[in-house]
Amino acid sequence: MARVVTIIGTRPEIIKMAPVVKALDALDHEHVLVHSGQHYDLLMDRVFFQDMELREPDRQFELREQPPHLQVATTIRQVADVASDADLVIVHGDTNTTLAGALLASKLGRSLAHVEAGIRSFDRSMPEEINRILADQLSDLKFAPTVTARENLERENVRDGIHVVGNSVIDALTQNIATAEKRSTVLEALGLTRGKYILLTFHRSENVDREASLAQAVEAFARVTKATGLEIVFPVHPRTAKQLKAFGLASRAAGIRGLRQIEPTGYLDLLVLEKNAALVMTDSGGLQEESCFFQVPCVTLRESTERPETLEIGHNVLAGTDPDRIEAAVRKQLVATRGWPNPYGDGTTGTRIAELVDGFLG
Ligand code: UD1
Ligand code: UDP
Repeated sequence: MARVVTIIGTRPEIIKMAPVVKALDALDHEHVLVHSGQHYDLLMDRVFFQDMELREPDRQFELREQPPHLQVATTIRQVADVASDADLVIVHGDTNTTLAGALLASKLGRSLAHVEAGIRSFDRSMPEEINRILADQLSDLKFAPTVTARENLERENVRDGIHVVGNSVIDALTQNIATAEKRSTVLEALGLTRGKYILLTFHRSENVDREASLAQAVEAFARVTKATGLEIVFPVHPRTAKQLKAFGLASRAAGIRGLRQIEPTGYLDLLVLEKNAALVMTDSGGLQEESCFFQVPCVTLRESTERPETLEIGHNVLAGTDPDRIEAAVRKQLVATRGWPNPYGDGTTGTRIAELVDGFLG
């Protein structure tokens, strides 16, 4: 029996790794689930364990409010004992938790697997791009979501141990949408009509940590709700809430008619909000993928995306934070012809990863 240590720490890692964790738990190996503590608010963390019926982590650490370099350093120090005798360490995605887990496995001489390997924005000013590249370079097993991701790895001379397995975002979504539709009352609670509102999420550091781009984006939200007559529902990420206050933009945002700011929602409510939206405006990776599956058009509030397939099939348009560009993109996408294919697999990514892990451990 081998010892597998899976490290998670943020909202998207909990959601996308839940199906993988469940599949790994079913193997005949010891499986230790570690939470770095990078996300910690009820609505950024615990709610997903409840909504997805995910078991508690075996080891829970605290990171609260640390700057990025200390998130990485502290996680390495805190998780070292748990990972020191692992036969395989598994990390997901592109967060500071991911980088810490990858560096730790490397320094301990342990094998490493990276889930969602090989996606690239080709923008190295993003902390996420650096985290992904380093995790991929250090990994023995690279679970790539698409053929494009595999090709990105090959261009970086990473050739061994790549497996194209789809994206576990689809597993998570297909395993939970029926429950979400049964249990969630979010549309009624917010008084929303299906297909008559826009769902907005916005939290990337390159957008919200710069006053000019956050201020511009807020004006773009005002423009879009006025131009389309559609209400915008905006679950606000804690980083964004903090920055709106810090830049003195909170009252401007609160005063925009048609911009409905709410707390971050649980996963079941988010799925229902997303599936029934007329359009999604976002800078989130996960929302680009999920809205693609739901056949809901997307406008991405960034200059680049590591999900290029969504652009190619007409589901998604890049619009940055300029109000003119965003308004034009929203008008275009509201009348987009739907029916594009889903590039992210058939919802069996978790079990495929577990089988490959089992084979690797022998
Ligand atoms: C992180 C990831 C990002 C991912 C996002 C998912 C990195 C480099 N970035 O960004 O790729 O898209 O998670 O949501 O790892 N905060 C709270 N409560 C929480 C969590 C955060 O108040 O539960 C606030 C804190 O002030 C914190 C700030 O948000 O300092 C930023 O959190 P952090 O985890 O550092 O980065 P994210 O922006 O969440
Ligand atoms: N999500 C959620 N509630 C919210 C906002 C997002 O449940 O209020 C979910 C969403 O369905 C997706 C994931 O969180 O699965 C995306 O996380 P986030 O946008 O924080 O990170 P990213 O995908 O950009 O790394």
